[in-house]
Amino acid sequence: MEADRTKYNRQGALGTACWTETSWISRMAIRYGLFEGIAMRYFVTGGAGFIGSHLVDSVLRESGQVIVYDNFDEFYQGKERNLNEHKSNQRMTLLRKDILEFKPLVDSMKGSDCVLHLAGQPGVRYSLQNPAKTTLVNVVGTVNVLEAARMSDPSVIIFASSSSVYGVQKVTPVEEEAPTRPLSVYGASKLAAEHCCDCYRQLYGLPIVVLRFHTAYGPRQRPDMAIAKWFRVLKEGERPVIYGDGSQRRDFTYVEDIVRGILTAVHRKEAIGEKINLGSGMPVRISDVIALIGRAMNIEPNPIFEKPRSDEPPETFADLKKARRLLGYEPKVSIEHGIQLYNSWYRPQ
Ligand SMILES: NC(=O)c1ccc[n+]([C@@H]2O[C@H](COP(=O)([O-])OP(=O)(O)OC[C@H]3O[C@@H](n4cnc5c(N)ncnc54)[C@H](O)[C@@H]3O)[C@@H](O)[C@H]2O)c1
Repeated sequence: MEADRTKYNRQGALGTACWTETSWISRMAIRYGLFEGIAMRYFVTGGAGFIGSHLVDSVLRESGQVIVYDNFDEFYQGKERNLNEHKSNQRMTLLRKDILEFKPLVDSMKGSDCVLHLAGQPGVRYSLQNPAKTTLVNVVGTVNVLEAARMSDPSVIIFASSSSVYGVQKVTPVEEEAPTRPLSVYGASKLAAEHCCDCYRQLYGLPIVVLRFHTAYGPRQRPDMAIAKWFRVLKEGERPVIYGDGSQRRDFTYVEDIVRGILTAVHRKEAIGEKINLGSGMPVRISDVIALIGRAMNIEPNPIFEKPRSDEPPETFADLKKARRLLGYEPKVSIEHGIQLYNSWYRPQ
C-alpha cells in the first residue's frame, strides 16, 4: 500500500485530476498554517446537495477552486439547479460521479488540498425504509473517501456527521463526549463512519475533523426535512403534521452558520482529530417553529397532532463550548431571522 501511496502522491501533481502542479506547495503551506487566505483546492463530495452547494458558493466567493463530486442521487429532485449560477465559473469543476466507485474517486481527488466529505444518504425515516442503501453510502462510501484521501494526501479532511449519533440524552446541552445512542440506521451509519475516521486517523495519521451538524435549514433545503415540508404544506393550503405534542425541541441551525463552521475548521490545526458540534445552541419547540412559519406566511397553521415517533429524540441541543474554543464558532442567524430568509427565498420543489 505504501508503494501505492507514493505513486499517487507523485501523480497527484501530474495525473488526470484538474489541479495543476503547484498543489504540493500550497498543501504544505496550508498544513503548516503559512497562509490562511491561499487559493485552496477543495474537493467537495455531495457538493451539489443542500449544504454542499452553500459550501461551494462560499469557496468560490473566497476565490478558492473546487471540484464538486456528486452523483445527483435520486433521493430527491431539484439539486441540479443548486450550482446553476456557477456553471461557467472556471474555478469549479463538476463531476457527476459516485463515491461508491473507487477508481474515479481516487483519480479525481489527486492534488486536492482539502476534502470536504458531505456526500451521504441523509434522512432518518428513509434510513428505516432503506437501511442497506443508507449504510452502504454512509459507511462504505466514507471508507472509499478515506482510502482515496490516504492516497492523495490532503491537508485536511472534514467529515459531515450528525447530531443523530447522540439519540436520547439525559444531560443537555450535549457535549461531544456524551455517550452515543443512535435511534435510527441513519444515526448508526454516521457513527460507524465516525469510527472509520478514527481508525484512519490512528492507522495512517489522516488529518480528519468530524463535525456533527445539528438540523441545518435554509434555502435549497432538502424537501424531506421538517421546515421545507411545513412551508410546502402551508403554501398548498394544507395542515402541517406534528408527531407528538409539539413540545419537542430541535437545534435548528441556519445553513450559513454550518458552512462558516466547516470552512473555519479547514484552517484550524487544533481541530484535527476532534469531533465538534455545529449547531445553533438555541433549541426551539417544534410548535413554535410552525407558528413562526405561519406568521412569516400570514397563515394560521392549525397543525394536526399525531403519535410521537420512536426514531425521534425529544430534544437536540448542541453544546458549543468546544466549537467556540477550537473554531471561534459563533452562530449568527436566529430562528426568527432564518425563517424570514427562507420565506423570502421559498420556491416549490
Ligand atoms: N441537513 C442536515 O440537517 C444534516 C444534519 C446532519 C448531517 N448532515 C449530513 O450532511 C451531509 C449533507 O447533507 P444535506 O442535507 O446537504 O443532504 P443532500 O442530500 O442535499 O446532500 C447530499 C449530496 O450527496 C450526494 N450523494 C448521495 N450519494 C452519493 C454517492 N454515492 N456518491 C456521490 N454523491 C452522493 C447527493 O446527490 C447530494 O447532492 C450529509 O452527509 C448528511 O448526512 C446533514
